[in-house]
Amino acid sequence: MTEYRSWAENVKTRIIKKMEYVSRRNEGKIPYTTNAEGIYDDKSDESVEFSADNGLKWWTNGFWGGIMWMLYQATNEERYITNAKDCLNKLNKTFDIFEGLHHDVGFMFMPTAVAECRITGDERSRTIALHAANILAGRFNINGRYIRAWNDLPDVDTRGWAIIDCMFNITLLYWASEETGDPRYREIAMAHADTVMKYFIRDNGSSIHIGEFNPDTGEYIRNYAGQGYSIQSAWTRGQGWALYGFCLSYLHTGKKEYLETACHVADYCLEQISDNYVIPIDFMQPDMPQVEDSCGACVIAGGLIELSKVAENGHSDIYLETAINILKTLDKRVNDYSTSTDAIVNRCSAAYYSKDHDMTMNYADYYFIEAIWKLTDTGTNMW
Ligand code: GLY
Repeated sequence: MTEYRSWAENVKTRIIKKMEYVSRRNEGKIPYTTNAEGIYDDKSDESVEFSADNGLKWWTNGFWGGIMWMLYQATNEERYITNAKDCLNKLNKTFDIFEGLHHDVGFMFMPTAVAECRITGDERSRTIALHAANILAGRFNINGRYIRAWNDLPDVDTRGWAIIDCMFNITLLYWASEETGDPRYREIAMAHADTVMKYFIRDNGSSIHIGEFNPDTGEYIRNYAGQGYSIQSAWTRGQGWALYGFCLSYLHTGKKEYLETACHVADYCLEQISDNYVIPIDFMQPDMPQVEDSCGACVIAGGLIELSKVAENGHSDIYLETAINILKTLDKRVNDYSTSTDAIVNRCSAAYYSKDHDMTMNYADYYFIEAIWKLTDTGTNMW
């Protein structure tokens, strides 16, 4: 089993070499995806109007800073600290344009502000992270005991919406309680996790994407397919957010039901993953078209590695083995380590019904690098 270590060390070397070029070429940007030439865009480009789905408030904007912190931890090169701080300085401006800031402040500020605070002890990054945690806590609906996802959408009332992805955002609340000693943040995070455990996780271990509550009475109403294929199906990245997210909730709280839920979702994933370890966008999508999501693959792999360290159901070895097989498959089939293009992981998809599939996404790279760092004992926990 430990033969995976030399493979992972070799992948780590290739990542570091490529990222040396990528980070220099993209200094000052906050990338999301690549253009036809394989070069990153820039979500911090101030000539683009800032909104929730574009510009500085785009939910994936923390992953670039997170990649910089991971590279710093692997290389000790100060240049990566400068890049990571630059990313946080930009994200800090989103508080000034507060309107439209959303539930994804966890994804934005855990790999940037909290990472900086943990790695360097910097006071300013701590303040920024606590500010973000207060915004996230303020989205808690006491009636349904859930954290509201998104803001008002044109023609859609989202006041009662919660999503499985938020299991990652709530790690910001756990951190805030650990940092301040004030239990309020953790209580909100656990109330949300308990609600998700009750209404989102099906008996077979799969998770829905979006759940809707009556925002005034808290009554559970229905689910939506969201980024998946249908209301009965299982969006794979959502399964990753669920299994990895419940594992993180267990690590922060010690509550056994979270660990059991993480394992329940993991076992469902293991039943669905095919022998070739290629991960579709939805485990229940029809035969055609075959949409892949390498990003979902990275999140599931990272969650399985983490879960393999704490599972008490005798499945630790199979969790780790599956994670390694998923990562090796990505490494062989879709990853690009050339220094002339920016992204590593290819063949990602944002959603089953997106018009664009087969794209690169910065958080696929983030979660791939994070998984390799876990396998090579590099760096600190980011969540
Ligand atoms: N959190 C949104 C996504 O996974 O696409």
